[in-house]
Amino acid sequence: MIVLSGRCVVLTGASGGIGAPLAGALVRRGAHVIAVGRQAAGLEALVDQHGARAITALAADVTDPAGRQRVASAARNHSASLLVLAHAQPAFGLFDEQPERLLRSVIDANLIAPMLLIRDLMPVLANHRQAAVVAIGSTLGNLAHPGFVAYGASKFGLRGLIEGLAREHADTVVTFQHLAPRATRTAFNSAAAEAMNRELGVTHDDPAEVAERLAWAIEDGERRLQLGWPESLFVRINSLWPALVDKSLSKKLAIVRRHASARNPNKDRLEATHDQA
Ligand SMILES: NC(=O)c1ccc[n+]([C@@H]2O[C@H](COP(=O)([O-])OP(=O)(O)OC[C@H]3O[C@@H](n4cnc5c(N)ncnc54)[C@H](OP(=O)(O)O)[C@@H]3O)[C@@H](O)[C@H]2O)c1
Repeated sequence: MIVLSGRCVVLTGASGGIGAPLAGALVRRGAHVIAVGRQAAGLEALVDQHGARAITALAADVTDPAGRQRVASAARNHSASLLVLAHAQPAFGLFDEQPERLLRSVIDANLIAPMLLIRDLMPVLANHRQAAVVAIGSTLGNLAHPGFVAYGASKFGLRGLIEGLAREHADTVVTFQHLAPRATRTAFNSAAAEAMNRELGVTHDDPAEVAERLAWAIEDGERRLQLGWPESLFVRINSLWPALVDKSLSKKLAIVRRHASARNPNKDRLEATHDQA
C-alpha cells in the first residue's frame, strides 16, 4: 500500500486522455503532481482545474536531454517520491511501410526516455522511505498484434524494463509497477485504428474510469495489472499457448491490413480528420 497523501508525483503525459484524469485522481488522494507534457496549454488547464497548490505544470519533451534535465530538477526541488510514466507515441500501421524515422522515434519516446528518466530520478526517489516507479503499459506490450508491431515492441520493452528493475531493486525502497490499459477512448488512437477496432469488435474503455482504476492500483502497489476482459484472458492464453493466439489473429489479418496499410484509400483522410479532432 502506497500512501499518496502529501507525496509529490512526477506524471508524464499528464495532459493526455488518460493522464489528465489520472492527475485528478492523484490530486484527490492528496498528492502534489508535477504535470509533464510538451505543450503548455493542456498542463495549464490542469492547474486551472485543480489549483497551483496541487499541480506544477512542466512543459518538457522527455525525448530531449534538456527536457529530462528540467524534469529531474523539478523532481529534486519538490522531493518527488513517485514517477508515473503515462506519455507515449502511437504508431499504428504496417511495419514494412513505416520509415526508419518513425521506428526510431517510437522506441525513443516509449522506451529510451522512460529508461533515462528512471535513471535520472532514482537518486531522488531513493531518498524516501517508500517510493515507486509506475509505467503505463498496454495490452499490446503483453500480446503482440499485427498493425501495432513497432508500438508493441516499445511496450514489450517497457514491460521488460520494469520487471528487470523490480528484480534488481527487490531489496531497496523503490517498487516498480507495470499497469496495462486496453483500448481507451482518447486521441491516442488514430481514426484508422479506431475504424479497425470497431470492425474487430474491440471495446474502448472510458478514460476517466481507466484513470481511477490506475490510481487504485498505484495506491495498492499492484506489481502487474492488465485491464479488461477478455484482454486479460487473451494475455494469459498468449503466454501459455501462443499458437492459439497466432491462429486467432491470422483470421483477422485481412481486416488489419485493410485499415493499417498506408495504401488504405481512407487512411490519409482518416488520419487528417483525427489530427484536427
Ligand atoms: N488510449 C489507448 O487506447 C491506450 C491503450 C493502452 C495503453 N495506453 C497507454 O496509456 C498512456 C496514455 O495514453 P493516452 O491515451 O492518454 O495518450 P494521449 O491522449 O495521446 O496523451 C499522450 C500524452 O503524452 C504526452 N507526450 C507525448 N509525447 C511526449 C514527449 N515526448 N514528452 C513529453 N510528453 C509527451 C502528450 O502531451 P504533448 O503532446 O503535449 O507532449 C500527452 O500528455 C500511454 O502510455 C499509452 O501507451 C493507451
